[in-house]
Amino acid sequence: MPTEPKLVPPRAKGSSVARVSAAWYVACTSRELGRRVPVARTILGQPIALFRGEGGAPGALLDRCPHRNVPLTLGRVTDRGALECGYHGWRFDRGGRCLEVPALCGVAEASARDAVSFACVEQDGYVWVWGEPGVAPSAQPFRFPLLSAEGYTSVRQHVVADASVHAVAENALDVPHTAFLHAGLFRSDARARNRVEVVVRRWHDRVEAEYVGEPRPEGLVGRLLSPKAGVVEHWDRFLLPSIVQVEYKLDAAHVFVCAAMTPESDYRTHLYAVVSFKLPIPGWPLVPLLKPIALAIFSQDARVLRRQTDNIHRFGGESYVSTEIDVLGPHILRLLRAAEQGKLEPSDAPKERRFHMDV
Ligand code: FES
Ligand SMILES: [Fe+2]
Repeated sequence: MPTEPKLVPPRAKGSSVARVSAAWYVACTSRELGRRVPVARTILGQPIALFRGEGGAPGALLDRCPHRNVPLTLGRVTDRGALECGYHGWRFDRGGRCLEVPALCGVAEASARDAVSFACVEQDGYVWVWGEPGVAPSAQPFRFPLLSAEGYTSVRQHVVADASVHAVAENALDVPHTAFLHAGLFRSDARARNRVEVVVRRWHDRVEAEYVGEPRPEGLVGRLLSPKAGVVEHWDRFLLPSIVQVEYKLDAAHVFVCAAMTPESDYRTHLYAVVSFKLPIPGWPLVPLLKPIALAIFSQDARVLRRQTDNIHRFGGESYVSTEIDVLGPHILRLLRAAEQGKLEPSDAPKERRFHMDV
């Protein structure tokens, strides 16, 4: 039997990086995976070779040839959908089975020649890989809501941040930083505050914050999406293992941002985001206006996240002081820890808590 790869080395002392390996993660987009050339990706520190096997279905093998350790991504994909190592030509199918050792005569198959494989499926235009090798998944990949819903415009974007899944998820769902880090772009003025009610609902596998009585953000993004001012309905959500959602409604306008995060390593996280929106006016003309603004906002986030990570390393570990208005971060960390340890206690009714904050 091939030996299973170990995950990245144990966490450094004091680190809060939780690793949830029993989960589906987006490895790449469907478009990135062609028919001929394997694609190299890393998930949870495990180098993976992606390729299209028989019939075009995607496969994921540990990027290490069992023969002499050469990366399988140096090879090519044959006409019949086998991944052929570039060194001596061993060929593997989607399940990692060694189909052929060129020039070897009359010797029976041996499973020791098989490559380590990961479960792999294609859904919603993404190639998803199960985070543990050699394991049958216990769930289906997440489905992006509204991706092809009628009346909605959906835009995809892939971005990378040098920070942990927890830090990236907290950042994506954190309200207080928007008035400072994104002043003018998202919320306009840190001093012009409005008191809103926050309702936090916790389930065993997700957490949601609802903001009640929030005026439409005055920044550029808010004005573009809804020129008319008013009170918005706003929800932020984290769903295990790695989904973040931000949802806004104002009259007929509905904006739904949903991103699947993939931990390349403890401190590098990919975000595969789908922004779906329905507006009283056609949405497509807004895309060229909104995309650069959204990317500018993200680059401010990516910069601060990188500095946060650098400082965590500089000081040899994390140290957090949280208040009530760090609404979701502590819950996200707790959920990730519980999932990592397999300690999720299913619950139907959410636990709810209400308080006020100034946004
Ligand atoms: S190293 Fe892959 S076939 Fe020899
Ligand atoms: Fe931000």
